Parts: sequence; structure tokens; C-alpha cells
Amino acid sequence: MALYSEKVMDHFRHPRNVGSIENADGIGEVGNGKCGDIMKMYLKIDDDVVSDVKFETFGCGSAIASSSMATEMIKGKPLTEVLQLTNKAVAEALDGLPVHKLHCSVLAEEAIKAAVQDYYDKRNRD
Ligand code: FES
Repeated sequence: MALYSEKVMDHFRHPRNVGSIENADGIGEVGNGKCGDIMKMYLKIDDDVVSDVKFETFGCGSAIASSSMATEMIKGKPLTEVLQLTNKAVAEALDGLPVHKLHCSVLAEEAIKAAVQDYYDKRNRD
């Protein structure tokens, strides 16, 4: 069996929503100290709904695939739903990740949560 699913390979080769957003409403940047990979998420938010999302990931293929899938999963969603997104859901949507690559999907969850936090902080909201 291949180490990576077709979906992982697809999102790695053709990542969705790559780039940055000028004047983003929320930006979240996280990294993994062990592997050194870094992920940055940009959110455009209208009426507490993610109207656009882009990412920049300097990292492994699983991190790129996880960010790409995660952006697809939160686009058009209200923040209450976005905050429920878990790395497990991202990994499942990719038809699984090897155990030693699960931390790559954790980066996606953390980057999104950091971006939402940034949005709330800028508006002095909890
Ligand atoms: Fe660290 Fe993938 S190896 S994010």
C-alpha cells in the first residue's frame, strides 16, 4: 500500500488556496520546533464567516496537503464551525496520514485557530 493516499498526493501536487491575502482580517502563523516547518494562514472574514482563505506553508508534503485541505474545509463556513475543525478531521478528509505525519495536520488546525484568535484580538473580542 502506498504511504500517502491519492488525496494527499493530489493536494500536495495541486494545493488549493496558496498565497496571501492583503489586509487579511486574521493571520495565524505556527511552526513545529522539531521539523522546523512553518504554516501561515490568512483569513478574510465577513459577518463572522470565512469569505476567503489563503495559506503559505514552508514545509513537508503532508503539511502542504493538510493546509490545502483545511482551507477547503473552512471556506464559506461561520467561525463557530471553523473553530471546531480538528486535525483529525483534516487527516480523515485526506483519507489518512502516516502516524509520523499526523503532526503536519496539527499545524493546520493550530494555524487556523491562531488566525481566528488574531481576528478576535484585533476586535477586542473573546
Ligand atoms: Fe513537520 Fe510535516 S514533517 S509539518
